[in-house]
Amino acid sequence: MNSSFLVSASGKDNWPDSDLPEIVVVGRSNVGKSSFINALTGRKKLAYVGSTPGKTQLINFFDIDGQWALVDVPGYGYAKLSQAQLRQMGRMMDDYFGERKQIAGVVCLVDARHAPSADDLDMIDYFKQTGRRIIIGATKIDKVPKTKRQAALKVISRDLQIPMKSIYPISSVEKSGFDEIYQAILGLLGQKAEAAGENA
Ligand code: GTP
Ligand code: MG
Repeated sequence: MNSSFLVSASGKDNWPDSDLPEIVVVGRSNVGKSSFINALTGRKKLAYVGSTPGKTQLINFFDIDGQWALVDVPGYGYAKLSQAQLRQMGRMMDDYFGERKQIAGVVCLVDARHAPSADDLDMIDYFKQTGRRIIIGATKIDKVPKTKRQAALKVISRDLQIPMKSIYPISSVEKSGFDEIYQAILGLLGQKAEAAGENA
């Protein structure tokens, strides 16, 4: 996979001028979105990973193979921001999800160690209501004992009301689960291409 950083955008004026389909990585702050992008692309420092939450504050676009784009967005549920920063971030995200036509699907990341939070549930509801195609990545699975992994994934499936087949356990530390979720992402991109073909 060839990947390159395209642009960091604070608003629609900076979105890349491209028609490539976009896969957006969403989830609460510190869940591992930027690590996911690095592990998926096999790059160490494509996206900025921080030990403290709230590292990613802009919308970052990455070109993949000249065919599609991965999009890293700020995490939700990070409290240590001012009201003004939160408002600005909310507007940036509303504009993007409301107006960006080429969004092909969202990879929603949740922490495999815990049942989904209220924020996670709200996020999934929002994407379901807006008709987005959703894949779930259960991150940090390396921190769940092997004998408890299946049960953890079942809780996530039940709480989010998403079938088990759309839930992918991943570890950015052990680099596991990425072949599977990559295939699922290609599936989303293929569906988008088919839908575009139908409309042509
Ligand atoms: P924000 O940009 O703040 O929203 O965070 P983010 O979701 O991009 O998380 P990031 O990738 O920066 O990772 C947050 C922390 O979790 C870092 O310390 C990572 O090293 C760690 N981390 C990410 N993925 C994994 C994983 O699969 N396993 C383990 N054990 N740690 C992980
Ligand atoms: Mg990040």
